[in-house]
Amino acid sequence: MSTDFYQLIDRLADTRHLSLREWETLVDSFNADIASYAANKALTLRKAVYGNDVYIRGLVEISNICKNDCLYCGIRHSNRNCDRYRLSSDQILDCCKVGYSLGFRTFVLQGGEDPYYTDDVLCGIVSSIKSAYVDCAVTLSLGERSYNSYKRLFDAGADRYLLRHETANEEHYKQLHPENMSYRSRMECLKTLRKIGFQVGCGMMVGSPYQTSKDLAKDLKFIQEFSPDMCGIGPFIPHSDTPFKDFPAGSAEITCYLLSLIRILKPNILLPATTALGTVDAFGREKGLLAGANVLMPNLSPTSVRKKYSLYNNKICTGEEAAECLRCLSERIKKAGFHIVQSRGDIITATKGV
Ligand code: 5AD
Ligand code: FES
Repeated sequence: MSTDFYQLIDRLADTRHLSLREWETLVDSFNADIASYAANKALTLRKAVYGNDVYIRGLVEISNICKNDCLYCGIRHSNRNCDRYRLSSDQILDCCKVGYSLGFRTFVLQGGEDPYYTDDVLCGIVSSIKSAYVDCAVTLSLGERSYNSYKRLFDAGADRYLLRHETANEEHYKQLHPENMSYRSRMECLKTLRKIGFQVGCGMMVGSPYQTSKDLAKDLKFIQEFSPDMCGIGPFIPHSDTPFKDFPAGSAEITCYLLSLIRILKPNILLPATTALGTVDAFGREKGLLAGANVLMPNLSPTSVRKKYSLYNNKICTGEEAAECLRCLSERIKKAGFHIVQSRGDIITATKGV
């Protein structure tokens, strides 16, 4: 009976294409056996493209000030209990300096939609980083901006942009966001970023409130069609100061299963084992790598602000210095059979047989 599911996974590997129905069948068929079948296939494909290499990105959480009010997010505008901060250009450059000496060759500037970071301010930061560290890539994860803004940031040297689509079902999008945010503008931004020339990342939470398996199937179909360079997926984790505080966290196992399916769908995709995955499961990041992920994003933010960048409760690694965290992670992933490489970690586009 269940052989159909295995055949679907094989067909996904062969054709990199499934119908929405088929995706839904795969999502619904989740169990430990299917997940391990998918993980083996994913791992083989990942090894064909990236070997045992793990790319690292130094995450700098530049601001927890946000004009948006996403219902799931701990730094949402309405959260009066959030202790707000923003990093100055010098503080951000200091983080990159520490990161560079630790071997990071990609810096990810992530933050809420904070109006302080005008195009002028951000372009100044991006071009300073790029001229100080010519062998590094800069990734931005700063939410929705205009075409002109994205274009200026790209021209200032930013290489990549992460903007999770959050859900590929417009109705579900409305359940996760306030009325002034729209699924369409999110999708428009993703297309704009692609058109400008960024390497683009989308992604979603797993187990977010009201999410159905059809929603996840739509996410996978969207990923199939959009074919992003990067895809960030992690379990939803409730934050006690949000309207979603009483919803349960998403499952690490299903997240890993989806990581495997995404790897099989696009063998060369850059796929992080996220901090959220490491938060719901003590070995989540290792499990994510074993399911097909190939990227880790250790935190380079100053320890003084780490706890304040609280998108969800119980986030890991908020007390450790960057160096300590990297040492810990390197050892942990070595035990899982992988090793960290010191490079920009761009997507590999031409590989034999895949
Ligand atoms: N649980 C898990 N992930 C979250 N994010 C925001 N809030 C949460 C939460 N409560 C994710 C969103 C966002 C990314 C930066 O963090 O998907 O795009
Ligand atoms: Fe951060 Fe282990 S990875 S302390």
